[in-house]
Amino acid sequence: MPGDQSQPRNLVIGVCGGIAAYKSCQLIRDFTEAGDQVRVIPTESALRFVGSATFEALSGNPVSTTVFSEVDEVAHVRLGQEADGIVIAPATADFLARVAHGRADDLLAATVLVAACPVIIAPAMHTEMWENPATQANVATLRERGIVVVNPATGRLTGKDSGPGRLPEPSHIADIARTVFSGASMKQTLAGVNVLISAGGTQEIIDPVRFIGNRSSGKQGFALAEIAVQRGATVTVVAANCAALPAPPGATVIPVETTRELQQELHNQAPEADLIIMAAAVSDFRPANPAEFKMKKSHETDSPSLNRIEMTENPDVLASLVKARANRTLAPETVIMGFAAETGDDTQSILTYAEEKLERKGCDMLMCNEVGVGKVFGQSTNQGYLMDKDGGISEIAAATKHMVAAQILDKLALRL
Ligand code: CTP
Repeated sequence: MPGDQSQPRNLVIGVCGGIAAYKSCQLIRDFTEAGDQVRVIPTESALRFVGSATFEALSGNPVSTTVFSEVDEVAHVRLGQEADGIVIAPATADFLARVAHGRADDLLAATVLVAACPVIIAPAMHTEMWENPATQANVATLRERGIVVVNPATGRLTGKDSGPGRLPEPSHIADIARTVFSGASMKQTLAGVNVLISAGGTQEIIDPVRFIGNRSSGKQGFALAEIAVQRGATVTVVAANCAALPAPPGATVIPVETTRELQQELHNQAPEADLIIMAAAVSDFRPANPAEFKMKKSHETDSPSLNRIEMTENPDVLASLVKARANRTLAPETVIMGFAAETGDDTQSILTYAEEKLERKGCDMLMCNEVGVGKVFGQSTNQGYLMDKDGGISEIAAATKHMVAAQILDKLALRL
């Protein structure tokens, strides 16, 4: 059933010849461990980088590169017809060109030509080849035909050089592929849109070794960034303490630590933004007087001590952005969305708290999550209610954070 992420799938994983071919091994393992049936189809040149024995051992299935093997079973037709999804990583510039022109000169290209299932292609090449107008035209053609081309990451390439063209982490490719298999569209609905996202959790300094923080990992903010990039947006992420996560490929990441740094960077970037999403968990208070030296377990009542830290209130960053829009520092048509981390209590439900928060913050949309130990923070799934200031409310069923991001961005694209 489309959308059911627990169903095992018949997948074809294509591998082209490039130094990043070794990363496909991790991708194959990721899918087989999730219970998917994987057939690997390397190109001839992929086998110069990784041997067929490795692909056969990891997938548990035979490997072939040519349409002239298993001729009696017409392998390219059968593999293409039976696949629930095809993921090609890495894909070379030559492979993009061949698929864009409908070539069928090896088993992998022929399988793509037969397939009616979702096809995800993750290119990896030198920056010059990626940015060449010929490659970009091929990518545009493939996207127009519904093939999902994953944006390459920026970083170290084969030699000493660095730039856009690096194969993203296998986990990122798998996340995008699963989101597509679950029914999310990667159409370029956000082309030309500048998206500003805050992610992670702020940390407030107590002394040089201690801070006050929260459980937010940044995964939901990064998932929003990754799906927005994939849909054509120009994305900037102000990331509070997210160093443990791989940067979203194709996005600009500005690292910050404290609430005041987060606020400063968001206000610096916001005038360029068409859409602002406040996914960061922000500390409401901070120590009023951070200590210059490590604090001791002093029990003296009049010296600074850890058992009595004086706190002062932090700015409400989301409310300050809404205010900046009201006084025209930001464009009046900027769409602003917040998140509401709620647990509910004896007096009110999470929804009642979220409705009050939407009103109080003055933003256009609010994603309300029920949080708590083992719920949402640090997990790879999320769920909740997406509320619109005009009264609309949609339930977001439990799904991966990428799938939740896709649903949120569907609604925001309509608002834009
Ligand atoms: N937020 C913010 N600045 C703060 C606190 C929160 O910008 N000082 C933003 C968060 O990024 C989120 C939204 O406001 O988008 C709601 O955050 P939440 O922690 O749920 O709400 P609070 O404003 O802290 O309210 P309360 O503590 O009463 O739940």
